[in-house]
Amino acid sequence: MENKHLISITDYSKEEIFKILDLAAEFEINPNQNLLNNKVIATLFFEPSTRTRLSFESAISRLGGKYIGFTDSSSSSVSKGESLKDTIMTVANYSDMIVMRHPIEGSARWASEVSQVPIVNAGDGANQHPTQTLLDLYSIRKTQGTLENLNVYLVGDLKYGRTVHSLLQAMSIFNTTFNFISPEELKIPDEYKLFLNRKGLKYNEYRDFSEIVDDADIIYMTRIQRERFSDPMEYEKTKNSYVLKNEMLENTKPNMKVLHPLPRVNEIDTDVDENEKAYYFTQALNGVYTRQAIITYILGLKK
Ligand code: CP
Repeated sequence: MENKHLISITDYSKEEIFKILDLAAEFEINPNQNLLNNKVIATLFFEPSTRTRLSFESAISRLGGKYIGFTDSSSSSVSKGESLKDTIMTVANYSDMIVMRHPIEGSARWASEVSQVPIVNAGDGANQHPTQTLLDLYSIRKTQGTLENLNVYLVGDLKYGRTVHSLLQAMSIFNTTFNFISPEELKIPDEYKLFLNRKGLKYNEYRDFSEIVDDADIIYMTRIQRERFSDPMEYEKTKNSYVLKNEMLENTKPNMKVLHPLPRVNEIDTDVDENEKAYYFTQALNGVYTRQAIITYILGLKK
């Protein structure tokens, strides 16, 4: 089989995105299917993770497969100076697919160039997080009934937030109106604004987060990414920029949903968790079905 990596969300056409979402819906109805018999999937996490790693491992287990890997590169021979290339070429000999998270932008693409088995990017620095995007799209379609013509607010760390970068690229094929709310220091990078300009898509930029979200279909909150700051003072300055509170949701559309890739620090009040507009924990659950879809699609086990 020709290797079918998933490095950037732009690797997938609209048809492929819909294929994954439809498969995920099948797995939601019937999550335990013995499709990965005799398959081994490696999960290499060079950066911390709760949801991405565990939902992949849950997905593999529910499909009857086995997983190997590490959750901390200091327990691997990387700590002895082994290169990413040598690590990937070795682990590819032990597995049928590699799911990798790495702090360096472009590392997943580099891994795909040397790997004999498919590489799935589970987040590369501030660049991309395509499997998160697919579960975000699944969550948006499920709650809104469509992906077309939605009004989406992206709030928080839009500079370093890889989930935002991937989601923006994916939603750009659905005539989305984007609203960016961030501190000046963490605004959406120009390359993404140019990307939207080239596609003729509308976007608005705001610094204030008080009463401007009432026309939202989706509010996508993000954490300020402390680990990406070179200057700790910059983090201190921006870390409490926006906190979503229940009263801010009072006049929002009845079907509006609050999403967050999680982990949350303090950008959503815990009171909001009980609000019917809060969807982030179900969103994380949707990660299992979506990752089952991604694995079986890439391995050619579901057409
Ligand atoms: N959304 C997400 O990537 O969460 P983790 O960092 O816990 O994997």
